[in-house]
Amino acid sequence: MTPNKIAQGAEASIYLENSSIIKERFVKRYRLPQIDEALRTFRTRREAKILQKLEAMNFPAPHLQEFSDTRMSIAMDFIPGPKVRDILLDTQQYAQIAEAIGKNLAKLHDAQIVHGDLTTSNMLLHEQSKELTFIDFGLSAFSDKVEDKAVDLFLLDRALQSTHFQIYPGIFQNVLESYQNTSAQAAEVLARFEKVKARGRNKK
Ligand SMILES: Nc1ncnc2c1ncn2[C@@H]1O[C@H](COP(=O)(O)OP(=O)(O)O)[C@@H](O)[C@H]1O
Ligand SMILES: [Mg+2]
Repeated sequence: MTPNKIAQGAEASIYLENSSIIKERFVKRYRLPQIDEALRTFRTRREAKILQKLEAMNFPAPHLQEFSDTRMSIAMDFIPGPKVRDILLDTQQYAQIAEAIGKNLAKLHDAQIVHGDLTTSNMLLHEQSKELTFIDFGLSAFSDKVEDKAVDLFLLDRALQSTHFQIYPGIFQNVLESYQNTSAQAAEVLARFEKVKARGRNKK
């Protein structure tokens, strides 16, 4: 059976095979071969490791089935349901989703994990359970640093501002409120977030 390619990003192809998703990191010819191989191996292993950790803590993310260093691929459960990106482009009703995003992110950060690529294309809404599910952990890291968490929030802020400008800044304010209500370290992270933003302004 030929697997069905359902997405292709900058680094990986995504195939749907029965109810499994196969994410395969392809060769990037512009990189030096040794560096390319090392990066693909690192990101494949990292994504697998984070998915295992998330499952152990009951965090909504796909279940890891297997991973291969030679194919540079991981297999995980297919999450049925739309990307949050598409739902938000379709409706003005964002409060509930924003709340779920803030809560998930706070749980992730309190477990000392930063996502590294927080966009609404990396969040799916499970069509049965209606649970907000994060995906795409290839750029994630284990970190207890306030700075890393603040940068994660900053990237999310930017992503919402550019993709969901019709409902911005309302949506981000709701995310922050929910983050504050959930994370034990929210005050520190938000204070640092303000500094990260100020740094961004000074660079322009
Ligand atoms: N477990 C999954 N279940 C359903 N769809 C998925 C899953 N993993 C990835 N996808 C789909 O493939 C797209 C790209 O996957 P992603 O892991 O975000 O890779 P990339 O690094 O290319 O962005 C996602 O935006 C989503 O539409
Ligand atoms: Mg992605």
